[in-house]
Amino acid sequence: MVEHKITELNKKDAELDRSLRPDKFGDFIGQTKAKERLELLVQAARGRQDVLDHVLLSGPPGLGKTTLAYILAGAMGVNLRATSGPVIEKPGDLAGLLTSAERGDVIFIDEIHRLQKAVEEYLYAAMEDFVIDIMIDQGPHASSVRLNLQKFTLIGATTRSGLLSAPLRTRFGMNCRLDYYAAQELTEIVRRSARILKVVIDQPGAREIAQRARGTPRIANNLLRWVRDFAQVKADNKITQPVAEKALTMLDIDKQGLDEMDKRLLRVIVEKFGGGPVGISSLAVAVGEEPDNLEEVYEPYLIQEGYLKRTAQGRVATDLCYQRLGLSAPGGKSKNLQGQLL
Ligand SMILES: Nc1ncnc2c1ncn2[C@@H]1O[C@H](COP(=O)(O)OP(=O)(O)OP(=O)(O)O)[C@@H](O)[C@H]1O
Ligand SMILES: [Mg+2]
Repeated sequence: MVEHKITELNKKDAELDRSLRPDKFGDFIGQTKAKERLELLVQAARGRQDVLDHVLLSGPPGLGKTTLAYILAGAMGVNLRATSGPVIEKPGDLAGLLTSAERGDVIFIDEIHRLQKAVEEYLYAAMEDFVIDIMIDQGPHASSVRLNLQKFTLIGATTRSGLLSAPLRTRFGMNCRLDYYAAQELTEIVRRSARILKVVIDQPGAREIAQRARGTPRIANNLLRWVRDFAQVKADNKITQPVAEKALTMLDIDKQGLDEMDKRLLRVIVEKFGGGPVGISSLAVAVGEEPDNLEEVYEPYLIQEGYLKRTAQGRVATDLCYQRLGLSAPGGKSKNLQGQLL
């Protein structure tokens, strides 16, 4: 799948990804509300010469959670130590990280919803009272030693804030949810990245890429790199709207930014499940994807764009979805249903 190829490309090209990452609030485009709140939090903490409160960043992949964590640490002038939920296997791993943190340091835990329960429970006291209890020995001689920690900031990132336990969630002073970007903001991001990559692009060219980027900066940057390669081979190194359009059509990414998987998902709901409602696991089997991936990556965008609805019974295709597939919406069916209900 093209989408997958692009993500792999992205992984291999992590260095380039980093070079495109804004490192201060001023360069971070969009997410105005979240940015304002976080900037205020930083100002207040700095004013009191205090340590930044714990921050939880949530939202679909590629919207800037990791970027914001680094920006926050930079704005506070502290070190950031990064780890991720699945990497911390036992409480001891966490203890090492926490005891070596200096006052004010940011501990960044990516995919924090994937922390082991035992590790998570350790984190409660660490976050709240800045202490951890380490178990020494096992069995009848077991005892625990309490270690004091330097006051630190935990920044957690998650694509699934719904999976976070309430005790963990409520220990964050600030809970920031990132939303998909507007085309206008993504256009700015594309132009900024083009400047860094020293690529010549005009406004309509940038807009064409932005509109097809699923509201996601990471995808916008990946598409830009693809269009840059295309322009290098076929268009004299200049990205204009027609060049961007040709390059992106070659990737089967349509005008609305839906990729092959998005379209397949919509088609399956309509053609195999009569428009729904259909449960996420049946859907996952039908399209050959992990249910988690459907829920984290594909579904949120399709819901926000109005192609899908999530109901208690499962996912339902909307009229817009039928339109998008060039089919007529089953108006008769819904009228009958209403009739029965009435
Ligand atoms: N607001 C922004 N302005 C400019 N570029 C951005 C912005 N947000 C994200 N980016 C770009 O998008 C890329 C992906 O962002 P980031 O890695 O922070 O996403 P993420 O939310 O952590 O994703 P994941 O959930 O996959 O870890 C970054 O390399 C950066 O170049
Ligand atoms: Mg990240």
